[in-house]
Amino acid sequence: MLILSIESSCDETSAAVCDERKVLSNIVSTQIEEHKIYGGVVPEIASRRHTEAISAVCNEAINVAGITYKDIDAVAVTFAPGLIGALLVGVNYAKGLALSLGVPLIPVHHLRSHIAANYISNPELKPPFLCLTVSGGNTLLCKVNDYTKFEVLGSTKDDAAGECFDKAARTLGLCYPGGVNLDKVATKANIKKYPLPYPKVDGEFDFSFSGLKTAVINTVHNLSQKGEEVDVPVMCATIRKRVCDLLIDKSMAAMGKTGFNTLVIAGGVSANSELRERMKLECENRKFNLYFPELKYCGDNAAMVGVQGYYEYLDGNISDETLNAAATLPINYR
Ligand code: KG4
Repeated sequence: MLILSIESSCDETSAAVCDERKVLSNIVSTQIEEHKIYGGVVPEIASRRHTEAISAVCNEAINVAGITYKDIDAVAVTFAPGLIGALLVGVNYAKGLALSLGVPLIPVHHLRSHIAANYISNPELKPPFLCLTVSGGNTLLCKVNDYTKFEVLGSTKDDAAGECFDKAARTLGLCYPGGVNLDKVATKANIKKYPLPYPKVDGEFDFSFSGLKTAVINTVHNLSQKGEEVDVPVMCATIRKRVCDLLIDKSMAAMGKTGFNTLVIAGGVSANSELRERMKLECENRKFNLYFPELKYCGDNAAMVGVQGYYEYLDGNISDETLNAAATLPINYR
């Protein structure tokens, strides 16, 4: 079954052609350069760039896959959550395409597709498993009972882990996208130099990152008021360690409590080098199976939308032309 999928939830315009779990093409047009000068994504600019790029990106996905639009069996699109203006570009384009081709339109939840990135990279992986989804807008621990059945155990009560990385990086003068650059600059030396808090929340599997973000901002401002220079590589390493401590501790606790023996990590922050290294060690020690997406599927891309779209289709999740975008939507909405 050939699915043309579209992703436009944030700052990447992407289209892919997938045949069930097999990726025939995956074109990603990134807007990083346009948002860099502002230190973060400007929603209005993002929407405009999606509008300009979407036709060419879809055509390229069709060409690279070596097919024509007539070969497409369904169109899948990210419809929530994300930047509303950005999502609307993809949703409306997908609606027009599905209508003109006379094929089903499949709505795909953004976080579900991040989890599905793991199905591409790990052909043997199938639910049930426990999943930690860590991206720029979300941090979530959930049970994936089936491809389209999710049970939330906990989530962030304020900022996402990616947001914490991005804002801390900006404060330290690193350019957007902050998380990636913070990971590159971090050094393991002298990690105790800047004591940062270990945030606590009531919910057993919930997270909180805003206090950590504020602590970094305050520390940097205090040092600058005293005329002292911040040791950027050490500060980066300290932030990265704290975020990883939180993600790893909660994930291991959730694995223990639920009795799963497979842990899957998804979302942009799953590219983080320390998270990958330490999670691997923790899981090896406990004899858990651990899965990450390949680095090229960690960030936003349409291939993961196409693969999740296939499972949504099998589950009867098909929309008509009344499909709307939503800025927020729980993963277990259906
Ligand atoms: O999943 P994603 O591409 O977009 C959302 O759906 O939100 O995640 C983007 C987030 C950004 O916050 C980015 O800084 C972070 O993932 N990120 C990283 C790394 N690569 C991307 N954070 C830490 N270390 C990385 N290597």
